[in-house]
Amino acid sequence: LKVRIDVVSIFPEYLAALDLSLIGKARREGLLELAVHDLRDSTHDRHRTVDDTPYGGGAGMVMKPQPWSEALTNIRSQSPAPRPLLVVPSPAGAVFTQAMAYELAEKEHLVFACGRYEGIDERVLEWAAEHFEVRPVSLGDYVLNGGEVAVMAMVEAVGRLVPGVVGNPESLIEESHSDGLLEYPVYTKPAAWDGRDVPEVLLSGNHARIARWRRDEQLRRTAARRPDLISDLAIDDLDPADLGV
Ligand code: ADE
Repeated sequence: LKVRIDVVSIFPEYLAALDLSLIGKARREGLLELAVHDLRDSTHDRHRTVDDTPYGGGAGMVMKPQPWSEALTNIRSQSPAPRPLLVVPSPAGAVFTQAMAYELAEKEHLVFACGRYEGIDERVLEWAAEHFEVRPVSLGDYVLNGGEVAVMAMVEAVGRLVPGVVGNPESLIEESHSDGLLEYPVYTKPAAWDGRDVPEVLLSGNHARIARWRRDEQLRRTAARRPDLISDLAIDDLDPADLGV
């Protein structure tokens, strides 16, 4: 099951890093078909203008509708999907999570529209809803200069979930957030380093004790660093042994 991803940006070179590492390998192996488009190729004036001043006043510039509708219409016409998903990175979007990454990894065709400046004219999103499933998505509660870095993060998080991209699928099951908890701490050789010993239980060969210790470390860490995740746990996410009973 191949996933097609199109990214539209005024800085296509930003996305060049998606040629590297696991995602680059997945592209070369044909598991992931990823194309990056320059929004300015959809302008028709000598200055290749993509922005203008905001109606109502205020700081900064707003991205004009015409280049976006043209770029997205071209992508839509090439789409294998009846209604591709259009992700619009924005600090005003719903927060991206591992659950959302799993959801996006199931889609046939994802399109990412990287805004810059103060954002894209709102009418583009209204118009796009007639042709795409539109989703404003935020990486988190902080402001980036544009959507490009957010798209790199999302493409990496989604791409690694596409079957065949990560060599050992077990590494997907055991990682942070897959069970609603942070990951347990990990250690490798040597057993003693800088006067610090690897926790004794990990050298014991007792798999039940090791599993219990790791689970306790996950719970302890999550409570300390991310109490919000503990509040979000459903009762079924916990085992009686997690509560010491
Ligand atoms: N663009 C600017 N800030 C962003 C954020 N926090 N998440 C996604 N896209 C953005």
